[in-house]
Amino acid sequence: MTKKNNVFQIPSYTTAFSLLTLATQVDELKQEKRKVYEDAARTILRALNAKDSYTFGHSMRVAYFSLVTGRELELNDEEIYELEMSALFHDIGKISTPDSVLNKPSRLSEEEFTIMKDHPVKSWEILKDFPGFEKISLNAKLHHERFDGKGYPQGLKAEEIPLFARIILIADTFDAMTSTRPYRKGLPYEVAFEELVQFSGTQFDPKLVQLFIQGMKKESLKGEDTFFIPLLDKNFEKNAA
Ligand SMILES: [Fe+2]
Repeated sequence: MTKKNNVFQIPSYTTAFSLLTLATQVDELKQEKRKVYEDAARTILRALNAKDSYTFGHSMRVAYFSLVTGRELELNDEEIYELEMSALFHDIGKISTPDSVLNKPSRLSEEEFTIMKDHPVKSWEILKDFPGFEKISLNAKLHHERFDGKGYPQGLKAEEIPLFARIILIADTFDAMTSTRPYRKGLPYEVAFEELVQFSGTQFDPKLVQLFIQGMKKESLKGEDTFFIPLLDKNFEKNAA
């Protein structure tokens, strides 16, 4: 309805039809734009897979574990999408980490650890100028911040750390503990849950740890061996080999 000389006028049929056509075209353009940047996002993930297939698989599982917590928080569709993307790309900065450090089967030296600790900032640098990735790049940058403020790169504390970065840290650590590597066997889920509880309030947000464990227990009742990643339209094995 438009207002002319203080009288509301109902748009003519033709005007209403044109507006509807315009709205449809805007919607189509938005979908096209989203497809273009999702194609680019998939290409970046393929590059990560080519560099280091373990980190690629880890990123898929971290997205799954993060979404388990996200659903317990009853996030809306848009928030779930941001959380999925943030988790999928949290370790993209490892593209720049030398293989000798990334795949070292033994304990890292102090110098190697300093190099490794660079990856969240590298993730942010890679993602920050990608349209629509402002929050996603920040979540990636801050996924090693600890609840007690002793994390890196900024030493943020508790709620100063974005919610999704706090969720990803739990998912990230859980996957690191439960996945089997050539040099060690992964922990059973129950043992890893206990570890998360033990470090609640120091490393992790206690409320989010509870929600993650609650969500994972519901997941195990489903008895599924795989999980689905919407961006890649693909199922992945739950157990990391
Ligand atoms: Fe990381």
